[in-house]
Amino acid sequence: MYAIETAGLSKAFRNIYAVQNLNLKVPEGSIYGFIGENGSGKSTTEKLICGLLNPSGGEIRLYGKHYTDAGIRARMGVLIENPGCFPGSTVYQNLMMQALNLGIEKPKAEVERVLKLVSMAGAADRKFRQCSLGMKQRLGVAQSLLGRPRLLVLDEPINGLDADGMRIVRETLIELSREEGVTILISSHILGELSKIATHYGIIRNGTLIKELREDEMSEECRDFVFVKTNNDTQAVSVLSQKYREVEQKDGGIRVYDETESANVNGLMYSNGLSVNEISFQKIGLEEYYLRIMSRKGEVA
Ligand SMILES: Nc1ncnc2c1ncn2[C@@H]1O[C@H](COP(=O)(O)OP(=O)(O)OP(=O)(O)O)[C@@H](O)[C@H]1O
Ligand SMILES: [Mg+2]
Repeated sequence: MYAIETAGLSKAFRNIYAVQNLNLKVPEGSIYGFIGENGSGKSTTEKLICGLLNPSGGEIRLYGKHYTDAGIRARMGVLIENPGCFPGSTVYQNLMMQALNLGIEKPKAEVERVLKLVSMAGAADRKFRQCSLGMKQRLGVAQSLLGRPRLLVLDEPINGLDADGMRIVRETLIELSREEGVTILISSHILGELSKIATHYGIIRNGTLIKELREDEMSEECRDFVFVKTNNDTQAVSVLSQKYREVEQKDGGIRVYDETESANVNGLMYSNGLSVNEISFQKIGLEEYYLRIMSRKGEVA
């Protein structure tokens, strides 16, 4: 079953579509990385899923039920854009107000639990307005975790976090996913960080989903290769193509995809009288894959 499934989801603001015919499938228990350029419709999609905006068309189902289902909505944690906090109240007070609003039993223990999860227990008495951007961001994550949600929707939760802050949020999310089976929809621009936690990816452009894939499919796309530069790349390509299926000239050198040992490529070059100027083993990261997809304008996968 899908934790989130949208069909033909659309949202127009004054006749301009921010989200158009979007079919998103977020499997239960997944950490779904939602990627797209500025203005591509990520936050709008997330607001629609959370019921903060009304769709102009299409459907949203959460765990197979209509997205307005009260039982499901009660088990949803949300952080979209900024955490709604009172600037003059402390971190603890802000969380407590929300815990009381949500009708959480034993709110004190729950607030302490979430503060600990994001390593903010030491900053509990700090006024919100005196918090750094990273602290505010972590407080927002803490807020979304109140009441042990089954489904988390997090819009750029690691924006503005330093390496340590990112690690804390990353470890928290992985733990929630693995140990409690929480499903997490997370948008982020920090693709390197996202690739450390996501089990699925959705890439959105101009309000339309252009690619949805699992982590293993992504790894397949982000394959390893040996990169080599020689004194005669044209000849090298022809030599390499006799042995390897996928050989590509790129970035002023040659990529050999179906090889993991640079020594093998080096040996082949040497035995064909070519000299190697540079050789290395490399991997296409999520960042490069994403840029490649985005550069194929107009094409829909
Ligand atoms: N309330 C609104 N009224 C009018 N247009 C809006 C409104 N909210 C969003 N938009 C427009 O919808 C489009 C999608 O915006 P959205 O905020 O969903 O993008 P995003 O992918 O979250 O971008 P970012 O990476 O910058 O956060 C943009 O063109 C934006 O200007
Ligand atoms: Mg946004």
